[in-house]
Amino acid sequence: MSPDVDAIVKEALAVLAGIEDAVRLDQAKARYLGKSGALTQLLKGLSKLPAAERPAFGSRVNAAKEKLEAALEAQRARIEARKLEARLMEEALDVTLPGKGLGVGGIHPVTRTMERIEQLFRSMGFEVADGPEIETDYYNFTALNQPENHPARSMHDTFYLADGKHLLRTHTSPIQIRYLESHRPPVKIIAPGRVYRHDYDATHSPMFHQIEGLWLDEHITLADLKGVLIEFLGKFFERDDLKVRFRPSFFPFTEPSAEIDMSFGDGWLEMGGAGMVHPNVLRNMNVDSEKFQGFAFGLGPDRLTMLRYGINDLRLFYENDLRFLKQFN
Ligand code: DAH
Repeated sequence: MSPDVDAIVKEALAVLAGIEDAVRLDQAKARYLGKSGALTQLLKGLSKLPAAERPAFGSRVNAAKEKLEAALEAQRARIEARKLEARLMEEALDVTLPGKGLGVGGIHPVTRTMERIEQLFRSMGFEVADGPEIETDYYNFTALNQPENHPARSMHDTFYLADGKHLLRTHTSPIQIRYLESHRPPVKIIAPGRVYRHDYDATHSPMFHQIEGLWLDEHITLADLKGVLIEFLGKFFERDDLKVRFRPSFFPFTEPSAEIDMSFGDGWLEMGGAGMVHPNVLRNMNVDSEKFQGFAFGLGPDRLTMLRYGINDLRLFYENDLRFLKQFN
């Protein structure tokens, strides 16, 4: 029976050497070393041998098994190595290929407008101030003379934080109050920023921008307000024939108050609100209203951007569609 062992080993080694993939290697393993594999079958015949021959035969078969197992592992390692090599070849980086090129970023049209507005107001002597987007009821409403029952305070119009104490500012006007906590009049500032309201349609987005203005000094009048805003709008739209209208209105924090309209085509478009700072607001700022007075205004940079570039849907600004945004660079 012994020649069988050698024949099987010889055959198996030849077969293994020709195998190129792991699955077929496993099949070959089963064929020679598995439960019903060739070598295992030989061992099963052990009992039929004369007792004297058994130990020698058994050890020969075991040696053959070990030899095949070693050959199998060696072949497995060879297959793995070849696979890795093929993958490395395939994924090799060709550093001589031309690059994909870097996209040139651009400034968002609303940011562009904000920068332009800041520049124009700076040229008229205004400083630029800032304030938090998460506000308290006090700065957003109370200090601005906005009574408890004012509709803007309702959950319907304003995003409140879960703590019930904070809210996303609904306008940039709270920066007036904050600025006066660390500065004394005369003050001459604008304050650009994001504001938030429950609104969503072609001309309203839940997040939008405002630019607050505040000029307090001893002799500031409504004439200064009109002069500054007319000058600003004319420069912004690069037109000296621009018609601007001040329409009487109401805001709790100004008295008198006006809506600022600009002639556009056949009609008028609202650009923002303004007015003379209310004495109650001056009091909340610890400003002596007998000595100082002044005006405030709030402009909508999103609206100004739409008009300047002829865009008819505000939501386009906030969809991050590069096809839209690229047109401005
Ligand atoms: N805060 C107002 C709003 O969001 C806009 C505004 C109106 C601001 C009049 C002002 C102002 O400073 O004087 O509707």
